Amino acid sequence: MAKEIKTIGVLTSGGDAPGMNAAIRAVVRKSLANGIKVKGIMKGYNGLLNEEIVDMDARSVSDTIQRGGTVLYTARCAEFRTPEGQQKGAEICKKHGIDGLVVIGGDGSFAGAQKLAALGVSTIGVPGTIDLDIACTEYTIGFDTAVNTAMEAIDKVRDTSTSHERCSIIEVMGRDAGYIALWCGIANGAEDILLPEKYNHDEQVLINNIINNRKKGKKHHIVINAEGIGHSEAMARRIEAATGIETRATILGHMQRGGSPTCRDRVTASIMGAYAADLLAQGKSNRVVGYRNGSYVDFDIDEALAMQKGINDYEYSVSRVLAI
Ligand code: ADP
Ligand code: F6P
Repeated sequence: MAKEIKTIGVLTSGGDAPGMNAAIRAVVRKSLANGIKVKGIMKGYNGLLNEEIVDMDARSVSDTIQRGGTVLYTARCAEFRTPEGQQKGAEICKKHGIDGLVVIGGDGSFAGAQKLAALGVSTIGVPGTIDLDIACTEYTIGFDTAVNTAMEAIDKVRDTSTSHERCSIIEVMGRDAGYIALWCGIANGAEDILLPEKYNHDEQVLINNIINNRKKGKKHHIVINAEGIGHSEAMARRIEAATGIETRATILGHMQRGGSPTCRDRVTASIMGAYAADLLAQGKSNRVVGYRNGSYVDFDIDEALAMQKGINDYEYSVSRVLAI
């Protein structure tokens, strides 16, 4: 028989992502509608281990859907990676009457949720990361806002790059994944896109491309460099030396994580949050919410974490052809 859930907790963990507040709001309000009480756990697993736990009601999440960041704060927690930390976390949940927990974050946060589920706390993961690097889902909360922020910033760099007839290396976030870089590369019409999944580190090819494009009459040369490759400043210096073309590096950094979430992020987060609340109400545990083929779905966390994801070859090849 499914475990009866009376009270749940909700936390955000890992890097924040625009739309996390919409997800928290949905978890709280859908759970209340399901007759389940909600406690907010501050600062991810850190706050759980420090018992930073607050009661939440429908008004606790008023005026949050449009705000970036996370009202519950977030953190990375080394102690929770240890079996002792996980045991302590499960005991604190029991002490506070928390039968189930919604964890909004990335793969690392889901690994923590998996450990808590094995210790008897029902857990559901909601994919919240700007990196889009969670294999079981085609969408992660925050990606749309982040790529739009990056796209607008890259347009601005392009203006000055063209005026000065420069080459620009623009580094975008994504940890080890190249999705933000690929999408910006296509949306900004970048001449080159360096993705961790594709780049073979043959810089001479890049240099030849820059020289050839200049000969073809291109006024700027935008290289979108994924964070997973990095070293944009040093790359810019080498390219300038090899091509004789003035080259500047711009690292967009944490601006990509902030700002008011787009409509897509607010809506997806609201539905995923509500879906997670419903899974707990149904007595489910050790599941991750995902979005696939136009539908919201859920997977066993163990299976979700074992899935692999790669850059779509066709999308990548189109990005190259359109850059001629
Ligand atoms: P993300 O959730 O965005 O992938 P991290 O990888 O930084 O971010 O993970 C967030 C937090 O989740 C970590 O600081 C840690 O507390 C917890 N975590 C990560 N991996 C594990 C693991 N294997 N076991 C238990 N907890 C983990
Ligand atoms: O996972 C989101 C992300 O912004 C990655 O793109 C990046 O690698 C990382 O977090 C940066 O983390 P921090 O905020 O700790 O510098």
